[in-house]
Amino acid sequence: MVDSGRSVLSSIVASQIDTHRKYGGVVPELASREHLRSIVPVVDEAMLMAGVGWNDLAAVAVTQGPGLIGSLLVGITYAKAIHFAHGVPLIGVNHLEGHIHAVVLEHPGTELPAIALIVSGGHTHLYHVRENFEYELIAKTRDDAAGEAYDKVGKLLGYPYPAGPILDKLAPHGDPRAVKFTRAHMKGNPLDFSFSGLKTAVLRWTEANDIGEETAARRAAGADADWLALTPKRTLDLIASFQHTVIRELLSRLHVLTEAHDAKSIIITGGVACNAGLRAAAGTARLPVPVFFPTPGLSTDNAAMIAAAAFPKLKRGDVADLSLRAKAALAL
Ligand code: KG4
Ligand code: ZN
Repeated sequence: MVDSGRSVLSSIVASQIDTHRKYGGVVPELASREHLRSIVPVVDEAMLMAGVGWNDLAAVAVTQGPGLIGSLLVGITYAKAIHFAHGVPLIGVNHLEGHIHAVVLEHPGTELPAIALIVSGGHTHLYHVRENFEYELIAKTRDDAAGEAYDKVGKLLGYPYPAGPILDKLAPHGDPRAVKFTRAHMKGNPLDFSFSGLKTAVLRWTEANDIGEETAARRAAGADADWLALTPKRTLDLIASFQHTVIRELLSRLHVLTEAHDAKSIIITGGVACNAGLRAAAGTARLPVPVFFPTPGLSTDNAAMIAAAAFPKLKRGDVADLSLRAKAALAL
């Protein structure tokens, strides 16, 4: 529940991590079933916590895409029911626009135009955000998203899903210069990202270093194991070097882009924006304009950011009706 696009009255997130962990990643069919089970109690709880009733609602906002079609359909069907039953305006929101608004919600002083870097499990996208929240895609990943690279590298090394937060905690214990990774060279748009080569380089490293035993020990450990105790020095060095390479890659385009687009701020958002190393590096990178991150709770997927993104649309009358359709590959 978000008031006037400005303040979060309540934010309830139903995590599905326990469901998906045993499969090493998100299983789409299970995701939609979990959504179906959770959506009514989660909305009820959010309204209870915020102390609002149906008659208080100015609008109901829902993610139209991009995302898994089954999960999108659950949300859209429920939002349409609220719209139909209570006569509240319905607003379809792009998930990526939600991630950008997670920052604007918490930092109302974020000046536009801005350069926005969205880094999550599904996206590594750079946008030019103009006044009035018009978006121009500048670059994106050609293959894996940064979060996906964390999760795949972590899986390769025997850590449970999602591995991003675990590798982030381990990275400061290793030497970021121990393993040298070569930078991806882009044909076509030189600003695009690529992380699949890095993932392959980690695979080669595991083959060359005979780490079968330690990896097996981590696979056998529970989800809340003491990962540091289960990770020898050479593997900590690898993780630190991997994280260093990803962060260097993510931050490397921001300086020139800020100047090229005359941006007044930089927005870094999405699940990987939780990364402590990325936050610290952005702070010391001497970027020419202020850099804004969401607090960790609003970095990973949440509904408050969708409500916040809906508010400017509501103001300009950009509302949907019962014909609103889920779009798995909706572009921003
Ligand atoms: O935005 P999000 O919650 O969901 C998507 O829209 O994808 O992002 C989830 C992703 C996962 O890949 C997870 O491993 C990654 O964000 N992540 C992190 C960290 N926390 C979450 N990656 C690196 N460091 C972290 N601290
Ligand atoms: Zn997301």
